[in-house]
Amino acid sequence: MNCPKGWTYKQSLTNDETEQPTQTRRSRRSTKQKNSQSPGGADTLSLIRLEDNIEFSVGDTVEVTGKSTEYGLIREIKFGTKDFIEVAVFWFLKTKDANGVSETSVNDNELFLTPYGDHVNFINFGNPINVLSEDQFGDVVIDDSNSDNTFLVRRATDDQGSFSEVFDFTKLRQLLISDTDKFLPEVLNLIKNDDKSVETGVKSDAQKVEDIKKPITETSSEKPKTSKPRGRSKTVQEEEENLTPSEPSDVEEEDQSEEFEPEPELEAESEDEEIEDVEDVFEDEPVVKRKRGRPRSTGTPSPKKTQPKRDIDDLYAQVTPTKKIKFTKIDRSSLPIFISPTKPVRDEFIDPTSEAFKEIKQKLHTSQRLNALPGREDEFAMIYMNLESAVNEGTGCCVYVSGVPGMGKTATIKDVIEQMQESIPSGEVKPFDFAELNGLKLLSPNVAYEKLWEHISGDKVSASNAALLLEEYFKRDDRKRKPLIVLMDELDQIATKKQNVMYNFFNWPTYSTSKLIVIAVANTMDLPERTLSNKISSRLGLRRIQFKGYTFQQLSDIIKHRLELITRNNRRKVIITPDAIGFASRKVASVSGDARRALTICRRAVEIAEKQYLETHDENDPDKPYEVLISHISIAINESVNSPLAQYINSLPFASKLVLASILRKSRRSGLAENKLGDIIDEMKSSIVMATNEDKSGEFGMLDMLYTDKIFNDDAVNTNLRVHFFKQTISSLIEAGIIEQKNSAGERSKPTQLSVSEEEVVSILKKDNQIAQFL
Ligand SMILES: Nc1ncnc2c1ncn2[C@@H]1O[C@H](COP(=O)(O)OP(=O)(O)O)[C@@H](O)[C@H]1O
Ligand SMILES: [Mg+2]
Repeated sequence: MNCPKGWTYKQSLTNDETEQPTQTRRSRRSTKQKNSQSPGGADTLSLIRLEDNIEFSVGDTVEVTGKSTEYGLIREIKFGTKDFIEVAVFWFLKTKDANGVSETSVNDNELFLTPYGDHVNFINFGNPINVLSEDQFGDVVIDDSNSDNTFLVRRATDDQGSFSEVFDFTKLRQLLISDTDKFLPEVLNLIKNDDKSVETGVKSDAQKVEDIKKPITETSSEKPKTSKPRGRSKTVQEEEENLTPSEPSDVEEEDQSEEFEPEPELEAESEDEEIEDVEDVFEDEPVVKRKRGRPRSTGTPSPKKTQPKRDIDDLYAQVTPTKKIKFTKIDRSSLPIFISPTKPVRDEFIDPTSEAFKEIKQKLHTSQRLNALPGREDEFAMIYMNLESAVNEGTGCCVYVSGVPGMGKTATIKDVIEQMQESIPSGEVKPFDFAELNGLKLLSPNVAYEKLWEHISGDKVSASNAALLLEEYFKRDDRKRKPLIVLMDELDQIATKKQNVMYNFFNWPTYSTSKLIVIAVANTMDLPERTLSNKISSRLGLRRIQFKGYTFQQLSDIIKHRLELITRNNRRKVIITPDAIGFASRKVASVSGDARRALTICRRAVEIAEKQYLETHDENDPDKPYEVLISHISIAINESVNSPLAQYINSLPFASKLVLASILRKSRRSGLAENKLGDIIDEMKSSIVMATNEDKSGEFGMLDMLYTDKIFNDDAVNTNLRVHFFKQTISSLIEAGIIEQKNSAGERSKPTQLSVSEEEVVSILKKDNQIAQFL
């Protein structure tokens, strides 16, 4: 095909044979497994250089030669539109090139990860480089043999003097491989959160030891061999880390076979035959390579600390790699339920008209908290009723909550938990434990096991061991154990047919011994059916609660309720007129009934109104509240219903819009589409200064606006207007495809331009009262 001469590609990491065994890697076991790096399970591309048979994949680190030699982390390899195969990298900065590094605090062979990247021509690839995390690097002697290909990466930088805290690069790389889209936000987040320079970030030795002691994943006992990485960037195998293949049953298999074969007693470790089978289970795992015959670091989970023996400690002895584990195949005794079609389905929709329900509602009505979320009284009571009875009776149960975003699902459940916790001292509710898992925050579905086990035991073990330990734990009859409520939010993000995380979390509550209460939250009602098959999902007997869109009346209650909570210190009062509230509620109710949107529109309307008052310098009567009128709401709604680009731009924080306006201004002045980022920043600064000088009204100066934190205290939508997040602002505009940047040594000199129609951006921004003056 069109692959450049000397190169070939392959479409998924299936085969070891194409690769030469290297010093640093023993041959891997599986030859059949698929590497489904992308969530959709699409094949992954990797490139092979024929001359030396080196393979390059996403997550590999490599020299990129050009005028100078740079180092890159391969971000993406895909079939391209321009070139046959397109490769993108994130750049590492060499110490000498990174702004704001103090010589004394870095290692000679240290590189800094940046959130900046480029498309590169892979024929410029040099040798792979070894990139090690801090603890790995500590065990390596750097000498002539490896000094030009072995590097330490422990921090990221934006090249503007901000550095992240020390992180575990191995783990971060895994995120890139498993969930490419989350990598950049994570890097930005790391930089943003730890906005320190390296100088100030220098750690005491003791702190470093601490850092090393708590790597995110269990540290592999294998130390990287740093001698000459041939073959491919050896680093990839570092990632192989600790997922043992033992994993509870593959639900899919059951699905298809309808018959229940004797449970396959998989051996937890060490046998090649089982790998293939088990790796299906792990298909979503980023880790795809395994080595033969090496002891696995966490293969035998063992209690870390020499503390008094806990009850759960003997579970570790039970769950050993050699022990045959009985997997969570469905308990035979329960089979008839779904073998016979005449059996009633045990799933229940909770009936809010039932007597029991009325009773609990009455009881709850006396509680003030019930009013915290207007319009969700029924759902609140249903969830409360289920959780309370399960906790008090010490039984397991699984509540499945569905509804599109913005329906108050998360808010309601959190409220229930809080209220239950408050009722513990009075004895109304028995003590219970609460854990929260959020699908959006899990690097991969199996991490759910790790997190839950860590919550229960305080120990960090690999995901597969955690699954086994949890299985044993919930099976064990422990009278003393407190009931555990687990909230699994954003389940859509992690539930797939390929793995059985959801199955296990729904199945464990069915064990009579588990005392596990799972509240699963997802956007769609039929997620269990889609991922588990009807039979299994009906056997699980989920209690289903559906959150429907808010009605007009409910939305206006929510808005009013919110307004009561707003405290705006030292500011003039703002009121939204009842008409305006009604208007906003009706508009939103007729489309989606989404509370988040209703609140966002109101918040935006307040901003618009505020801006108007600011312009009219209406300072005559400082006690007179600003009124938000229907007209303001109407502008806010219009803003949000235009073209997708308009929608996106309108939803941007003020600072991002200001960046766009400054790009437009700069290019008008310079006559060039493309301008250096530094010049754009200067343009932005001068326009702010001008605006500030014009506007002497004091209280509402432009800078004040920029540095104002949220205007409303709505936790869900961040209206942060700070310029502090400038770098992130730029990156998110790039990510959204609104601007594009070419690479260049310094951040300020990067050529930057709009990548969408200039006219359209102008017309969108012109309608924006806040920003129009900056155009
Ligand atoms: N009934 C309500 N009363 C007040 N605020 C609400 C209500 N329902 C939702 N909200 C607010 O709307 C936003 C979205 O709610 P959330 O619980 O996160 O929705 P979901 O989890 O269904 O996507 C949150 O800021 C929440 O506080
Ligand atoms: Mg939610």
